[in-house]
Amino acid sequence: MVGRPPTLAILLAGALACGSVLVGALACGSGEDPGSSATALAKRGKAVYQANCIACHSIDPSQDGGVGPALAGSSLELLQAKVLRNEYPPGYTPKRTTGNMIALPHLEPELPALAAYLAAGE
Ligand code: HEC
Repeated sequence: MVGRPPTLAILLAGALACGSVLVGALACGSGEDPGSSATALAKRGKAVYQANCIACHSIDPSQDGGVGPALAGSSLELLQAKVLRNEYPPGYTPKRTTGNMIALPHLEPELPALAAYLAAGE
């Protein structure tokens, strides 16, 4: 008699925990399609960034690097101008005027991924 209520409570707690794990897994599964393509793009952009940009820019795009400035929030338009042609979009004020960056035109297919990563701001 004395032992029953706690046992029930433990069973209930177990069922609830299990339920929430299931709900979590389902919610995660159903949100995967739209979420993961954006996330996958940003992830790819991160890899491209780390392979091609951090020699000069900080590994943390929100920080200035030793040679290149912070890049968090850079638009696709800015990336196209700077990375492909070493230019700036019309009217854009460069963060630095050192002229030390080289164009990396072979990265054209990766610019949407880079923009997605840099837009995430981390
Ligand atoms: C050789 C060093 C170097 C590499 C590699 C490099 N950058 Fe740069 N980047 C710079 C420097 C230095 C500047 C500052 C302007 C200048 O000197 O050309 C700059 C400026 C920029 C700017 C303009 C920022 C602003 O708002 O004024 C963007 C965008 C940019 N880099 C993107 C990139 C991306 C993306 C990569 C990798 C694909 C990259 N850079 C690789 C050196 C580099």
